[in-house]
Amino acid sequence: MSESMSVIGVIASGRGSNLQAIFDAIDAKTLSVQVGVVMSDKKDAEALARAQIRQIPTVFLDPKAYPDRPSYDTAVVHVLLEHCVQFVVLAGYMRIVTKALLDPFPNKVINIHPSLLPSFPGMHAQRQALVAGVKISGCTVHFVDEAVDHGPIISQAAVPVLDGDTEQSLTARILVEEHRLLPMAISLYTSSQIKSIQNGKKERFML
Ligand code: GRF
Repeated sequence: MSESMSVIGVIASGRGSNLQAIFDAIDAKTLSVQVGVVMSDKKDAEALARAQIRQIPTVFLDPKAYPDRPSYDTAVVHVLLEHCVQFVVLAGYMRIVTKALLDPFPNKVINIHPSLLPSFPGMHAQRQALVAGVKISGCTVHFVDEAVDHGPIISQAAVPVLDGDTEQSLTARILVEEHRLLPMAISLYTSSQIKSIQNGKKERFML
């Protein structure tokens, strides 16, 4: 393990296939980071088991043990800092994050979402795309702000929406791209290859 390798913390609520894509990219040496800790708000998240197999520290924090979102996020930050985390990846994390998590990690929290944002934020993005009848959908990696699935876009990948697609078939097609896009975006942002530019009042990011 190189001394200069960035340490990331991954937070996931479920299956953890995007976490697995990060591990696979590390193994394939296309991504050069260390995963310092994997956290979850769900005790039985498969993501935790995937990390445990690799002897990566895992921490489950029960939201019910905290009075509100900021105090939960403060506890999350405490764990992340304890594990020397420099960058945070939300990979299927189903909670809304607050300033208590974002302020200690300015422009250092990213999320993956299964639509071409700003279209279809929130739950069931693939279903929303089918209902809207779009012909192209995809996934987005973006910096996280306090709004849901909002914040400067880092990278996107598009897939066609085919006649006869079901939510399941579209989800599967998008997931293939998520697993490609997320490790790539992590590599870009941990190696400081993303520049912030001001476009009017908006902050944008480019390579
Ligand atoms: C992915 O589709 C991700 O974009 C969304 O939640 C899903 C998580 O899947 N935010 P997994 O847990 O990484 O398998």
